[in-house]
Amino acid sequence: MVSDDFIVTPWHVQGEIDYDKLIKRFGTQKISDQLSERIKKIAGDDHFMLRRQIFFSHRDMNKILDEYEKGNKFFLYTGRGPSGHTHIGHLIPWVFAKWLQDKFDVNMYFQLTDDEKFFSKQNLKLEETKKFAFENALDFIALGFKSKNTKIIIDTENIQMLYPIAAEVAKKINFSNIKAVFGFTNDTNIGMIFYTSLQSAPCFIEEKPVLIPLGVDQDPHFRLTRDVAPRIGKPKPALIHNIMMPSLEGPGGKMSASEENTTIYTTDTPEVVKKKINKYAFSGGQPDVAQHRKLGGNPDIDVSYQYLKIFFEPDDMALKKIYDDYKSGKMITGELKAILIEKINDFLKDHQKKREKAREQIDKFLFKDS
Ligand code: TYM
Repeated sequence: MVSDDFIVTPWHVQGEIDYDKLIKRFGTQKISDQLSERIKKIAGDDHFMLRRQIFFSHRDMNKILDEYEKGNKFFLYTGRGPSGHTHIGHLIPWVFAKWLQDKFDVNMYFQLTDDEKFFSKQNLKLEETKKFAFENALDFIALGFKSKNTKIIIDTENIQMLYPIAAEVAKKINFSNIKAVFGFTNDTNIGMIFYTSLQSAPCFIEEKPVLIPLGVDQDPHFRLTRDVAPRIGKPKPALIHNIMMPSLEGPGGKMSASEENTTIYTTDTPEVVKKKINKYAFSGGQPDVAQHRKLGGNPDIDVSYQYLKIFFEPDDMALKKIYDDYKSGKMITGELKAILIEKINDFLKDHQKKREKAREQIDKFLFKDS
């Protein structure tokens, strides 16, 4: 998994990711045009994140669709490690999960791994990760999920339900498997060593196959789960992976909740968003306006353009116009940034309202151990 050019693990992403190489390294499948068309046909709708290959890779998506066409439903599962406030990169798999849920009419489980972030972050206390679990849950609920078919699992709250499944999984994974996949050493705490079995547990909550929309960095956990599944008499989880939203500083790192300046949180104020974009967003423009007008900019490396493409401008025509205008030099970096700032702030204004409303709804979403 580790190579000199880029690194992708559940706890560390570094360097400019070559997604075709990553598919080979992880042993996943690229989402072909044919598969994309098939999803579109069965869903009866298209999603810009599929069309633009923001979701670019999968494991066993065809199997999920084969069964669905035979009338056998799946369920959805995804999650969050509550190490801080939610950032806009986290929303990618959740927005797509909501779309899948609406189109396929299936149940959804959302796991908040307060234990994981306590194990993996030296500076965080368990009370803090648990507090963030509740805060992150608000962002998830704000995306429009309904409590009738969506449940939120918090590891330290719902351990009674999770533990028997985690125990089945844990017995089938040995220390050398975990070391090979995550590069753990003798210094790694044993919470981390056991942890994959807890992230695996929700895959087996229902007696149906599961589909997991997620960032590709989380794939290694489920590679282990998929090896274990048949050995405990369960179906292998299917996955659909999104690319990583880059940090504001651009190619060479993902947006990360612990890098405050180069991350847009869902709780940021309009002023903070404006300041961060203007100050930190990596530009594909020329050093000065005159050169920019003459030579044009490079939208393919420009972070503001990337954010519009990945999340904030679903309209293909509008996006293409921005691309063309920036590339020709008609649009300068300041103008491009202004478009992004407005889009993010419009989105956050609405999201923050829904997020506050979610405080009253959260109890209905929480999984209750029986
Ligand atoms: P976490 O909290 O690191 O991330 C939550 C989800 O967001 C994705 N993600 C990103 N996607 C795009 N751009 C980024 N910059 C970016 N950063 C993070 C992650 O891939 C993930 O899908 N251990 C997990 C929590 C978890 C989980 C799961 C995730 C528990 N069960 C099942 C996915 C599926 C974690 O710490 O995620």
